[in-house]
Amino acid sequence: MSKTIAVIPGDGIGPEIMTATLRVLDALDCGLNYDFVDAGMVALDRHGDLLPKATLDRIAEHKVALKGPLTTPIGGGFTSINVILRRHFDLYANVRPAISFPGTRSRYENIDIITVRENTEGAYLAEGQTLSEDGEVAQSIIRNTRKGSTRIVRYAFELAVKKGRKKVTAVHKANILKTSTGLFLNVAREIAREYPQIQFNEMIVDNTCMQLVMRPEQFDVIVTTNLFGDIISDLCAGLVGGLGLAPGDNIGEHAAIFEAVHGSAPDIAGKGIANPCALLLAAADMLDYLDKVAKGDQLRRAIRTAIELDQAQVTPDLGGKGSTDSFADAIVKRIKG
Ligand SMILES: NC(=O)c1ccc[n+]([C@@H]2O[C@H](COP(=O)([O-])OP(=O)(O)OC[C@H]3O[C@@H](n4cnc5c(N)ncnc54)[C@H](O)[C@@H]3O)[C@@H](O)[C@H]2O)c1
Repeated sequence: MSKTIAVIPGDGIGPEIMTATLRVLDALDCGLNYDFVDAGMVALDRHGDLLPKATLDRIAEHKVALKGPLTTPIGGGFTSINVILRRHFDLYANVRPAISFPGTRSRYENIDIITVRENTEGAYLAEGQTLSEDGEVAQSIIRNTRKGSTRIVRYAFELAVKKGRKKVTAVHKANILKTSTGLFLNVAREIAREYPQIQFNEMIVDNTCMQLVMRPEQFDVIVTTNLFGDIISDLCAGLVGGLGLAPGDNIGEHAAIFEAVHGSAPDIAGKGIANPCALLLAAADMLDYLDKVAKGDQLRRAIRTAIELDQAQVTPDLGGKGSTDSFADAIVKRIKG
């Protein structure tokens, strides 16, 4: 059955990697139609608005979007478009898989860690940020709720069950931030009892960072609050060779937006050398979400084989001499072959 998704090409390298990604998706023949919508600098130029209402309406209509990176102008009081999208659609789960790929320049070979980050509350609330008039005292609010903690922890356990994972580690700082992350930890302990088949582990965030660097193989699924999840998932991306291979899925009850973790990379925009893999891996997660799991797996296999065997065609960030297009060609060839 065919399905229409909203497509936001994005800014900087966004249109380049989106064109490559859609070409690969077409080669997979997975029954997707694309409704292109504007957001970011393109939307500001065309409609005078970084995130036009029509874009929000079309995402709401299709319920699923594939999104290129967006540039948020610095200064001028603009709120991050990504933050607005997460709030508008209540995309509470930010799922960031980090998987090793053969032949990439990374310190480890067998990493397979999924970070499930709470995406709507915690230390990233826009409210409550104040600076005293004399500029001497700054403060902000950390707010976690039982509802928010419950749904993110449950999401992590359900994901673990669905993907045949063995262990969930709840990462916290309840020894110091006793109320905010203490509430999260208590909820995690309660929910863990409902999933006796999944091993539950809890770990303080600073120790987690050290353990991830020293013995990453002990981790499977990590669930944590907003700020810790943001940092830990980038650390995990570093374990597998950087942001070029890091997808980020934003999931809510009524909508889901799939994107690369990296930004619009203005330093290489227009040069045709951006690595399309993070967006492609996000597209593979989107196919899983749309119950096209076999297609998602086929796409991941094709990416893996191309990186391993078509080194000349891969982009310079992975040590190759190729371009965005030659990389996509190699992946298409592996899909067809
Ligand atoms: N999800 C998003 O839309 C998102 C996320 C992060 C940053 N941003 C925005 O992106 C802009 C640039 O941010 P930044 O420079 O801090 O981070 P960035 O991720 O765009 O770039 C960091 C470095 O990684 C490289 N890089 C990133 N993606 C790459 C790819 N696919 N292939 C090869 N190299 C790649 C860049 O060339 C750069 O050297 C900012 O406006 C920021 O707000 C958007």
